[in-house]
Amino acid sequence: SIPKFVKIVEVGPRDGLQNEKNIVPTAVKIELIHRLASTGLSVIEATSFVSPKWVPQLADAKDVMQAVHNLRGIRLPVLTPNLKGFEAAIAAGAREVAIFASASESFSKSNINCSIEESLIRFQAVTHAAKQLSIPVRGYVSCVAGCPVEGPIPPSKVAYVAKELYDMGCFEISLGDTIGVGTPGTVVPMLLAVMAVVPIDKIAVHFHDTYGQSLPNILVSLQMGISTVDSSVAGLGGCPYAKGASGNVATEDVVYMLNGLGIKTDVDLGKLILAGEFISNHLGRPSTSKTAIALNRV
Ligand code: HMG
Ligand code: MG
Repeated sequence: SIPKFVKIVEVGPRDGLQNEKNIVPTAVKIELIHRLASTGLSVIEATSFVSPKWVPQLADAKDVMQAVHNLRGIRLPVLTPNLKGFEAAIAAGAREVAIFASASESFSKSNINCSIEESLIRFQAVTHAAKQLSIPVRGYVSCVAGCPVEGPIPPSKVAYVAKELYDMGCFEISLGDTIGVGTPGTVVPMLLAVMAVVPIDKIAVHFHDTYGQSLPNILVSLQMGISTVDSSVAGLGGCPYAKGASGNVATEDVVYMLNGLGIKTDVDLGKLILAGEFISNHLGRPSTSKTAIALNRV
């Protein structure tokens, strides 16, 4: 049955910005996080402690985190690909982290420069260190509906990686359709496979909107009982190591749909649209959120 409340995980400051070519000033990132925090969002992924050679846009992770980590009443997870990133994140004040594996061998190589099995060993080290400090760890699985190199990915592969991350202690598993190729036709069997090995209340969905399938994919996920949805303000986003990937589903559009379904989110749509306008103005291009465009016209 469809949930009464959905937790939205706002990934705009991380997934949204990581693919931007022009470096966004640190002060703009900090202001964006403040504006998003004021909308009622309870989780905002703030940045990534990854190699600055791999993701130059987030080279200021330490400064961003130090500026926002004291924000009250909000969780600000950051991506950590290895122990080095984990230690830097904790030193900068992070209180929650996320590790990111892939269901595709090729994507694992191109995104984090190692095989799936090697990555799981690295992530064991991170979850082990996090446990010592009582730091919650979220686990991502990428390419859950398809890989830019390998094409379709079997649901059993997704379920395998999801279970590995869950068994090593991740409190939530976010299933990422990195290149946005999934449709309800492929997403439903993938979710069924994961639900067989990870409890439904520990599963989140993370859709990129490359083919315009995010909202239907979210709707079928809700109908299957999923109550955590990742999205990005103004529809920003894309992975630099996934050719052709476009932005995440826009948070404004998700909130509009959930409002229409009578599902609570505690997010103020008006304030969210203003946060989207702020970052879109800075980037010098219109928001890709249909809801933001429509509501700005009326
Ligand atoms: P590597 O080159 O194999 O790493 O990269 P290495 O261990 O050989 O180290 C090479 C250099 O990187 C060394 O520095 C290390 O110190 C440094 P040097 O001696 O050359 O000066 N280094 C680091 N620096 C800062 N922070 C660190 C770190 N680790 C090593 N944590 C590595 C391996 C994993 C580091 C690299 O591949 C990387 O940073 N990848 C991140 C890629 C990324 O961020 N992708 C986007 C996020 S995933 C995504 O978007 C998908 C998602 O949204 C879900 C979905 O949509 O499906 C989550
Ligand atoms: Mg993503």
